Amino acid sequence: MSKKQMKLGLSMRYMGYHLGAWRHPDLPVDGASQFRSYLDVAKVAEENKFDLLFLADGIGIRYDDVPKGSLCRSSHNVELEPLTLFSALASRTQHIGMIATASTTYNEPYHIARKYGSLDQISGGRCGWNIVTSWSEQEAWNFNRAKHLDYDTRYERAAEFVDVVTGLWDSWDSDAFIHNKASSVFYDESKLHVLNHVGKHFSVRGPLSVRRSPQGRPILVQAGTSEVGQQIAARHCDIVFAAQQNMKGAQNYYSSVKSRLESCGRSEDDLLMMVGLTPIVGRTREEAQEKYRQLEELVDPLVGLSILKRSFGDLSHLDLDGPVPAPDLENAGIRSSANMYYETARRENLSIRQLYKRIAMAQEHLTVIGTGSDVADAMEEWIETKAADGFNITPTHLPHGLNDFVQYVLPELHRRGRFRKEYEGQTLRQNLGLREPQSMYA
Ligand SMILES: Cc1cc2nc3c(=O)[nH]c(=O)nc-3n(C[C@H](O)[C@H](O)[C@H](O)COP(=O)(O)O)c2cc1C
Repeated sequence: MSKKQMKLGLSMRYMGYHLGAWRHPDLPVDGASQFRSYLDVAKVAEENKFDLLFLADGIGIRYDDVPKGSLCRSSHNVELEPLTLFSALASRTQHIGMIATASTTYNEPYHIARKYGSLDQISGGRCGWNIVTSWSEQEAWNFNRAKHLDYDTRYERAAEFVDVVTGLWDSWDSDAFIHNKASSVFYDESKLHVLNHVGKHFSVRGPLSVRRSPQGRPILVQAGTSEVGQQIAARHCDIVFAAQQNMKGAQNYYSSVKSRLESCGRSEDDLLMMVGLTPIVGRTREEAQEKYRQLEELVDPLVGLSILKRSFGDLSHLDLDGPVPAPDLENAGIRSSANMYYETARRENLSIRQLYKRIAMAQEHLTVIGTGSDVADAMEEWIETKAADGFNITPTHLPHGLNDFVQYVLPELHRRGRFRKEYEGQTLRQNLGLREPQSMYA
């Protein structure tokens, strides 16, 4: 029996997840605002047959300046808008998929259906939407609100939002356009469907003014771990982007999401779990550890504390070498992350300083430090034990994190028969090995 192959994504946000990476001596300080940086990285990822590029997103500067002086010490304040950036990258690449994040809290479904529908046409069926609910007050302030919507309302709105978007994407059958110049008929009227959605949060008539996607519909991705988040994933999504740091927890999450698929008329293979992975790789283990140590030194204590604030409140009055207090779940932006950080701190007996250094490097994602073979071992184990179907690589800094992965880890994955050497299909859906969804009118 052939071995299970893994899926690989490359997350490019801010040109790296490390909050202090802009201080790294080998990096241009303003790489995250330069189109050229993303293009170069996208080309290397495509040459190496990555399934997809991924851009997380927030619609505002989401940190507040607590503790004072933290905001101006982080580069994670300026970036390029994902759909705009991917539209440009789509014209310079041929095979690689592109997953852009967009919020269901601060958008209208018609806008999202139209923009992603268009990017899918432009890219020839290589686009996807990472569905998020947003979590910060700062975003609310940019959209006419004094306060962020509460957690339950956000998810309720998200569930209806996704129903509307997928409904709009079914507006046209794929063979609707007959383009008969002689009879003067452009499309077959029986193959256009009007949604007429009326719900609690949205009234959307439709139809959508973009034709059906070359891959049936754009790939749908979901990242939230709550009950409703998992339900949305089971109903609609092709990928779950998971932040999991230990294998047992990942296995539980994997089976929790997959067990919901059957009741939605889907099978286990219809949804891929891709775990965020930050590899720190060297020729030897010592070299990898040394790279990690250098990266730790780039974490400014004020920036470190500002990261913890999202989950624990302001800890600047506490001894940084003392224990981590319980998270402030009521006010935490992402509850699942807050819980995970606390569990990690308790399990490994980390001080406040040690915890923020850890999070500043890769945020909530799994970090593996070692040789190419060590990283490949970990990846294989997660795939084999149903903790993951693939990985979204979340490098500390780019292009170095990608180049190291390509140089040290990828040859190991090839040798072990775990990752492709050529793209199999034309669209992102085909390359992911996923079936085209049927239209709701079929
Ligand atoms: C791995 C992961 C990635 C996420 N990426 C984003 C993002 O790019 N933008 C965003 O606004 N929210 C993002 N979120 C937040 C979710 O949309 C959602 O608000 C949050 O997960 C809610 O908490 P829950 O995980 O407890 O359900 C992410 C969450 C996770 C777990």
